[in-house]
Amino acid sequence: MPSSLAKRKRLIVGITGASGSLYAVRLLQALRSHPEWETHVVVSNAGALNAQHELSMSKKELEALADVAYDQRDIGAAIASGSFVTHGMIVVPCSMKTLASVAHAFADNLISRAADVILKERRRLVLVTRETPLNLAHLRNMTAVTEMGGVIFPPVPALYQNKTSIDDLVNHSVGRMLDLFGVETDGLVERWSGLSN
Ligand SMILES: Cc1cc2nc3c(=O)[nH]c(=O)nc-3n(C[C@H](O)[C@H](O)[C@H](O)COP(=O)(O)O)c2cc1C
Repeated sequence: MPSSLAKRKRLIVGITGASGSLYAVRLLQALRSHPEWETHVVVSNAGALNAQHELSMSKKELEALADVAYDQRDIGAAIASGSFVTHGMIVVPCSMKTLASVAHAFADNLISRAADVILKERRRLVLVTRETPLNLAHLRNMTAVTEMGGVIFPPVPALYQNKTSIDDLVNHSVGRMLDLFGVETDGLVERWSGLSN
């Protein structure tokens, strides 16, 4: 690998079959204007199905937004090992199935294995979980991931911003996700400075 690539900060992006593929697309697009970040994407089968359904986007088109793409069955991939240094991982959107797999260290595909590695290496893991209402298993799994150091980030729209378009609301949430990795996001997030301002 060229030394210039090795110096880039690596972020693993898992895209699973929960509703909200648009969050993943916006996040990958936003990171393209940050050349210091290198994105490693894994799209699950259900994630690909959803992107097609919600955005008419193929798996190939999604993967083209990232620097590196892996098949979800490629359990021998670099990101399946803790020795491959990354700055963390975001699963966006994150299904309740993948949440369960991560919460129980089940590692049944490359997304849940990579998340397992992130937790064992004590790196940053953010799960953009999308489901409502939640059953007790969902809540317990979220608690388990939180107890292990992961961040549960349901993409709740920031209605206090008085924005009207879906794009505005999605961009704000994506900016807040990137905040958790220290990515400069002032173009996406309108920062609250108090009611009087
Ligand atoms: C159109 C569509 C929307 C879905 N939305 C959700 C969702 O919002 N949250 C969720 O947990 N599962 C949702 N599912 C179900 C998941 O896709 C399913 O549980 C799948 O097995 C998840 O696999 P994955 O985590 O490997 O992607 C949806 C499925 C479809 C077809």
